[in-house]
Amino acid sequence: MYIKEISLYNFRNYTNQKFEFEKDGGLITGKNGIGKTNLLEAICYPAFGKSVRQFADADLVKFDSLEFAINSKYQDEHKNYDFQVIFSKNKKAIKLNNSPITRISDLYNYLKIVYFSADDIWLVNGNRQKRRSFFDQAITQSSILYSDLLREYYRILEQRNSILKDDKFKSQLQPWNKQFISKAIEVVEYRKNYLAKFIKFAEDILNNITNSHESLQIDYEAFSHIVYESDWLENYLHKIEQNEFEYKRTLVGPHLDEYEFNINEYSVKRYSSQGQRRSLVIALRFAQIAMIKENSSCIPIIIFDDALSELDKNRVDKILSLLTDEHQILIASPNIDNYRGFSFPIIKLGDE
Ligand SMILES: Nc1ncnc2c1ncn2[C@@H]1O[C@H](COP(=O)(O)OP(=O)(O)OP(=O)(O)O)[C@@H](O)[C@H]1O
Ligand SMILES: [Mg+2]
Repeated sequence: MYIKEISLYNFRNYTNQKFEFEKDGGLITGKNGIGKTNLLEAICYPAFGKSVRQFADADLVKFDSLEFAINSKYQDEHKNYDFQVIFSKNKKAIKLNNSPITRISDLYNYLKIVYFSADDIWLVNGNRQKRRSFFDQAITQSSILYSDLLREYYRILEQRNSILKDDKFKSQLQPWNKQFISKAIEVVEYRKNYLAKFIKFAEDILNNITNSHESLQIDYEAFSHIVYESDWLENYLHKIEQNEFEYKRTLVGPHLDEYEFNINEYSVKRYSSQGQRRSLVIALRFAQIAMIKENSSCIPIIIFDDALSELDKNRVDKILSLLTDEHQILIASPNIDNYRGFSFPIIKLGDE
């Protein structure tokens, strides 16, 4: 799969601009703040139906403008995918080949992109929310059913939370508990199944990048150490009911769970060096690519947004050599010296 062209209207710092891309990829360069990341964010938009960097749509509208639009064309060996995104008056409308997309989650079926960012280091250093959203996004790219399930889980969670706002609704909690428990168990099953395969890829790639033989564990940790088993949870929810009404929200569930990274049984967050962390997050992204390929016939577009700039040239060469040349690879960096060995066309921003 690859992107052929994109036109941006009032998107971030772009007023009206068109870019074209080669099938192999390109090196996007230009000084800090010129709009490299913004361009990549737009390229990723139709893959997720929102900002890959988790910004609100309103933040993507050019300062002092009212709406933004993205028109972009992608292609794989079977088909053309022409996306049109319009965000206006706080509403977005997305069309694929001129047909409206009614459910955002359908987008995950078409366009697969893996976005490596310098901010990925937050997958290790940041809070559990970062790891949950990484895995949720990755699982969704491999299984469209997961995004429907997750949405349903969050819908039930919201209902449950609104009941917990006021204990005069106490009698209504029971039926929601049943639904909550069944969806929570399903979500966790999906996550654990995904993780079991994912870890193998991540460990192999980590060792490949670092030339070592370390063991990587990624443990799924249920918040409050609850057990995802129907009777157990029913009892537990009953036990903490008073507490939940006090806090006015659901106190356990997949929306609070954690993924814990360990290398050779030691917590990465507590013990690993900066370099080890950086290698780990790159391995996580590679495992995401491997899982997409395993679960669909799609060859995702790979984007490196300044994600390799702190590594030496040998490491960069090694990492890029792990990618087969079936992928379109887009690399953004203010400094392209590290990528001199690559014959990608250069897209220089800001010199027109
Ligand atoms: N909604 C917006 N409207 C107008 N300009 C915006 C908007 N959002 C961000 N910008 C501007 O875009 C610029 C940042 O662009 P971007 O992050 O793409 O730069 P970059 O080329 O990736 O830089 P770096 O090399 O530092 O990563 C900033 O100057 C910022 O003010
Ligand atoms: Mg940037």
